[in-house]
Amino acid sequence: MQYTWNDIEQHVNTCMHCPLSQSRHYPVMGRGDHQAKLMLIAEAPGGQEDIQGLPFVGPSGEILDRLFKDCGLSREKIYLTNILKCHPPGNRDPREEEIKACLPYLKYETYLLKPRIIVCLGRVAAQRIISPDFRITRQHGTWTYRKNYALTATYHPSAILRDASNYELAKADFLEIVKKLKEEL
Ligand code: URA
Repeated sequence: MQYTWNDIEQHVNTCMHCPLSQSRHYPVMGRGDHQAKLMLIAEAPGGQEDIQGLPFVGPSGEILDRLFKDCGLSREKIYLTNILKCHPPGNRDPREEEIKACLPYLKYETYLLKPRIIVCLGRVAAQRIISPDFRITRQHGTWTYRKNYALTATYHPSAILRDASNYELAKADFLEIVKKLKEEL
């Protein structure tokens, strides 16, 4: 059976497949342009996202919007999502069983979107999607090619909040991503 975007969102909104469904305020489905060629995947909603039910609306979102503006991107032209759709208490790393329970949603989002470029934001997403031993500090901005899309990773916005010098590194990665996106279109 072929699910639609609405079907996936309804499943996410009523999901009880892991214990995070007991502690969340709201699940956070991915958001953005369903025709986008660029998909960004982070790890899990933060505290603000949990309260509003939207991805990247807290301090990390402000950094992301600044990066987008500096690189000629906008949220309306991309698709932004997380591996986990529910907030892990205290912003701890997602647990294996939570990831396993949630990954089918991400797979469906990817299947419906059919992006040409996928960008992992931070270690958790990069290690799950690109390679289990991926190191952001050493490998950010490098490209991996899969059958239907190109994959890269850059710093998570929270790593930029912790160390402002990561901003320019992430910006350089995003400028390359924009260049590649133009080649793909
Ligand atoms: N951090 C994430 O990884 N995802 C969000 O949506 C917000 C903060």
